[in-house]
Amino acid sequence: MSQSIRNGLSTVPELDDVQFTRWQGLLEERTGMYMPIQRRSFLQTSLGLRMLELGLRDYSEYFQQVTQGPSGAIEWSTLVDRLTVQETRFFRDPDALSFVEEFIRGITSSLIEHDESLEIWSVGCASGEEPYTLAMIAEQMLGSLGMSYSVTGTDISTIVLRKARSGRYPLRALERIPIKFHSWAVQPLSSQQLEVSSKIRKRCCFSQVNVLNLKNSPLQSQHIIFCQNVLIYFRRWRRREILDALAQRLAPGGLLVLGLGEMVDWKHPLLEPVHSGQVTAFVRKQSTSSGESTRR
Ligand SMILES: C[S@@+](CC[C@H](N)C(=O)[O-])C[C@H]1O[C@@H](n2cnc3c(N)ncnc32)[C@H](O)[C@@H]1O
Repeated sequence: MSQSIRNGLSTVPELDDVQFTRWQGLLEERTGMYMPIQRRSFLQTSLGLRMLELGLRDYSEYFQQVTQGPSGAIEWSTLVDRLTVQETRFFRDPDALSFVEEFIRGITSSLIEHDESLEIWSVGCASGEEPYTLAMIAEQMLGSLGMSYSVTGTDISTIVLRKARSGRYPLRALERIPIKFHSWAVQPLSSQQLEVSSKIRKRCCFSQVNVLNLKNSPLQSQHIIFCQNVLIYFRRWRRREILDALAQRLAPGGLLVLGLGEMVDWKHPLLEPVHSGQVTAFVRKQSTSSGESTRR
């Protein structure tokens, strides 16, 4: 049984079994995130601290507040921001990014031939470091050729998307960005902050998309879908459903990149797995077995 937690002079009320199950269900139904019993104290602290801010002492009362009407929707977005894991960083997965670089190199001539812009989607982009990283790589490879590209970052949390849109990060983030990008992809704003350059920012857009509702997303025919460290919080059946929907949103020949080891046992008739120990990725076949184009 979890204990009440003291925060300053106030005490966070205890989340009993009934309340835990109720909140766990709401979170999974709305975000897909499964909160195991081992994370009960995290849930209790996060809910309890928010309730203290609102002057509430009762989990049922807060549940009602969050699930009712337009004000409930606003409060829900604050809560989602507190309950989701938003850890991210620039150039987080060097092996996957090298693979993306190779992939872009491989499709550049086809993009030029068809006069196409490279479309990249970062799913569950958190505060934007991942989409900006992908844009820096695309700019480095395509900018000098005068080719167009765009990167869309999506996330469920509106609060984290606001941070992403600002393009501003603590100066220490520079340590994560390879030196070759420093002179043109970012600039220091102050002794505390850096800003992603306007050249990169103007190629990136951010939008709220819940991966449970991908059918409502207008994103289609993506050349690269990057979805790392998002599905690990979901149950396996739900991960499969989301990946099936992402597969449909790849352009023929397009690349889906997951975090290493995420969903190695998943298969999709439109996709070929990439055989590499360093990345977990899939490429969409160019056409169906009947020879018909798979582009939707
Ligand atoms: C750990 S971060 C991953 C960030 C980035 N992809 C990376 O690997 O560095 C997980 C992100 O997934 C988002 N997320 C969680 N549930 C989601 C959902 N149902 N739809 C869209 N995004 C979701 C969270 O808000 C969070 O920003």
